[in-house]
Order: sequence, then structure tokens, then C-alpha cells
Amino acid sequence: MAVLTIDELTARVRGTDILKGVSLQIRSGEVDVLMGPNGSGKSTLAHVLMGNPAYEVTGGSVTFDDHDVLSLDPAERAQLGLFAALQYPNELPGVTLTELMTTVYQERGWDSADIDSAVRSEAAAVNLRGDLLDRSVNVGFSGGEKKRAETVQLVLSRPASPSWTKLTRGSTSMLCPTCPLGSKP
Ligand SMILES: Nc1ncnc2c1ncn2[C@@H]1O[C@H](COP(=O)(O)OP(=O)(O)OP(=O)(O)O)[C@@H](O)[C@H]1O
Ligand SMILES: [Mg+2]
Repeated sequence: MAVLTIDELTARVRGTDILKGVSLQIRSGEVDVLMGPNGSGKSTLAHVLMGNPAYEVTGGSVTFDDHDVLSLDPAERAQLGLFAALQYPNELPGVTLTELMTTVYQERGWDSADIDSAVRSEAAAVNLRGDLLDRSVNVGFSGGEKKRAETVQLVLSRPASPSWTKLTRGSTSMLCPTCPLGSKP
């Protein structure tokens, strides 16, 4: 069982303390929902967990099984199985979702035909139209299409501890470690 342990985590952004001692333990198979007022730090926690350099960790620890998450760079955290689906997904002009997924998973040693079929099947599972796979990521996508496209990326990554923020409306972020590490489509 994978366990993400956040212990007395403190962090600041632009000189302002936002996280003031967050402690939380999440195990595989659980769905944990963070609720709180706008601006209370839910998205900040997701950014800090992924290693966004705009956020300065000032204390505490984060471990993922026996890995010291805070000592890893964002790519290493992603390889471990941490995934952030952000409130405002970035646009990637000139890069299609299929190209993005192919680049990521070829790097992990997957066969390109397997990647293509996995992308198309996960897209169908979340009702993401096929033509959106061949358009620049998130460029001109509707809000719902962006969320479906992120869900395809999330599911394909088989994350051990996806860190979701604002996948739905309301002041809610969700952390749900559900999937085994390292599994292929
Ligand atoms: N990159 C940043 N630069 C400046 N301030 C930031 C940055 N990121 C977060 N903040 C500030 O930190 C506070 C917490 O923001 P955060 O986005 O974590 O809140 P939230 O709980 O996710 O809110 P919401 O429910 O509105 O999504 C806010 O006051 C926000 O303006
Ligand atoms: Mg937020």
C-alpha cells in the first residue's frame, strides 16, 4: 500500500505564509477531500506537493512511502506517481495531447502503438471527442473539455497519489491515491 504522509508542512509564496502546519496521511484506496474557504491554501498544497518553485517550503516533511518528496524535482515526483490536475490547466500551443502523451510514455519505455490506443480508449471512456486529441492541448478547449483532457492524462499516468484541485466546482480539492505504481495501460 502506498502512503503519502504530510507532516507539519509550512510554505510561503511571495513572502506570505500560506500553509501553517498541515498534517495529513493518505493511503492507497482512500479518497480524501480538502474543503475550505477561497484562498485558504488548497491549491497551494497541491503546488507544494508537486514542487512548483514559486512556493517556498519553510518547514515540515512530505514522504511517499520511503521517499523524501521534498528533496525530489518535479519530474522525479511525477515518476513516483504524484499528479496534479490544476484549477487552470495550461495551454500548450503547437503540441497535441497525443504528441504529449507519446513523448511522456515513450520516455517510460512504452510502445507508441500502445500509447496511441491507450489515449484513444481513455478519451472515449471520459467522452472526450477524438478530434480534441489532435488539437493543441487546451487551446480553445471548453472548461469541461479541459477537465476531460486532464482526466485522460491522470488516468494514463496510473498515479499512486493523484493530487486534484478543482476538478469540479466549489471550494474543494481532492487527493485520491488509488492506483498501483508503475502499471502500464
Ligand atoms: N503564485 C502566487 N503568487 C501570489 N499569491 C499566491 C500565489 N499562489 C497562491 N497565492 C495566494 O495564496 C493564498 C492561497 O491561495 P490558494 O490558491 O492556495 O487558495 P485555495 O484554497 O485553492 O482557494 P480557491 O478555493 O479559491 O481555489 C491566496 O491568498 C492566493 O492569492
Ligand atoms: Mg484553489
